[in-house]
Amino acid sequence: MTQMPYTKISIPLEVNGESHQVQIRPADTLLNVLRNELSLTGAKPGCLTGDCGACSVIVNDKVYKSCIMLAMEAIDSKITTIEGLYDTPIQKAFVNHFAFQCGYCTPGFIMNCHALLQKHPHPTYEVIKEWLSSNICRCTCYEEIEEALLEVIENRV
Ligand code: FES
Ligand code: FES
Repeated sequence: MTQMPYTKISIPLEVNGESHQVQIRPADTLLNVLRNELSLTGAKPGCLTGDCGACSVIVNDKVYKSCIMLAMEAIDSKITTIEGLYDTPIQKAFVNHFAFQCGYCTPGFIMNCHALLQKHPHPTYEVIKEWLSSNICRCTCYEEIEEALLEVIENRV
C-alpha cells in the first residue's frame, strides 16, 4: 500500500517574545514543535496524556499541558516556556531551596508556580495546594517546592 506523504504547513508562533515561522503537520502537538522545531527542550515529555505537568507552558496567561495542545491552537498567542523564565524570582527560589532532585518535573512546576503568582500574588495555602496538584513529582516530597513558592510570596510587598 502506498503511504501518503505528510503535508506540512507553515505557521507563525511567538515564543518567549520572539517570532518564529515553523513547518508543522496539522496534528503536531505544541510540545513536539517547541522541542523538535525550535530546540526549546525545557518542556519535558512525561505521561503525554495531560496528567503529569512536565510539559507545562504558559499560553497568554494560562498554564497548558503542551503534550495535549496542538501547535496550531497557539497561533496568535504569546507562548512562554521555561527558557523564558530564566533568572525570574521563582526560578531562583527553586535553586535556593533545592526544590528538585532529578529535575525532570522542575520546568513544569516552575511554569505552574509562575502562573499562580501572576494570578494570585498572595494565594492562600489551599490555593497553593490546588495549583500544585496539577503537577506530579516522583522524587521530592513537595515541601521544598512549597518553600520556594512561599519565599517569592513573602518577599512581595
Ligand atoms: S507530558 Fe504533558 S502532562 Fe505529562
Ligand atoms: S525532581 Fe524528579 S520528578 Fe520531580
